Amino acid sequence: MTSQEPSQTASAVYVYEAPLRLWHWINAGAIVVLMITGYLIGNPPWPLQIGQPSNHYLMGDVRFLHFTAAYVFAIGLLFRVYWAFVGNAHARELFIVPIWKKTWWQGLWHEIRWYLFLDRKPRKYIGHNPLAQSAMFGLFVVGAVFQIITGFALYGEGTGYGSWQYNLFTSWVMPLFGNSQNVHTWHHLGMWYLVIFVIAHVYVAVREDIMSQQSMVSTMVSGWRYFRGDQS
Ligand code: HEM
Ligand code: HEM
Repeated sequence: MTSQEPSQTASAVYVYEAPLRLWHWINAGAIVVLMITGYLIGNPPWPLQIGQPSNHYLMGDVRFLHFTAAYVFAIGLLFRVYWAFVGNAHARELFIVPIWKKTWWQGLWHEIRWYLFLDRKPRKYIGHNPLAQSAMFGLFVVGAVFQIITGFALYGEGTGYGSWQYNLFTSWVMPLFGNSQNVHTWHHLGMWYLVIFVIAHVYVAVREDIMSQQSMVSTMVSGWRYFRGDQS
């Protein structure tokens, strides 16, 4: 039985190892901080600050939080790639979507119908189901890499010519997008791309927990997936 096959017999399986779970929750926290502070950088709600910047430093604090969370987020993703190599088979599902397998496409079609309430019988999966996997790769991984590339390109404008951020990102991202304002706009749009993921992700995690006869949220806490009802 592979991680992508529906479970036939097991009633409890250890799926997500501790480092992966720790990454999940740190990453979730970092992304929430990045969204709130990023939104405030793009749309500051406060009036113009009067007086010496050092006396209030409001935007400075918001940007500091954004950049701190950005490093946690980026280093976290690097660690997550490393864990895909050294962790168990489920640790690779985030990055390797088996689109060459017919059963995967059949599973995807079933999940779409299941989420639309057109199919009443849930399928059980040890790892991610095919629809979850598509969203995790297509929305989260792609969105996260895009935000890291555009974010560090903007950051490199501050650290300046010759810094590693400038050499690795700003030097080619700015010419590609045309100018700094365009990178700001795309980085801002990238946030909404990830917001869509987070809203859908939290909804389906809770929905599956209730409806699909298998544990979800507690699985990302303890690592164990429990199955209820009949084992088909
Ligand atoms: C989930 C990931 C992220 C989200 C949701 C996010 C969101 C945002 C948003 C909405 C803005 C305002 C853009 C504007 O309207 O001008 C922004 C600005 C910025 N972000 Fe991010 N960001 C993320 C990751 C990163 C990363 C990894 C870095 C790397 C250091 C970064 C660096 C920056 C910089 C330098 C700015 C411009 C700050 C300024 O102009 O004062 N961001 N971010
Ligand atoms: C807020 C930002 C969040 C982000 C960016 C996020 C991202 C992710 C990612 C990338 C995965 C795949 C894990 C892997 O294979 O390494 C995942 C799995 C999971 N997340 Fe989140 N998550 C967030 C919040 C949450 C919250 C609040 C919950 C609980 C309500 C949650 C519940 C889960 C569950 C249950 C799984 C495993 C699903 C399965 O086994 O198919 N996540 N999440």
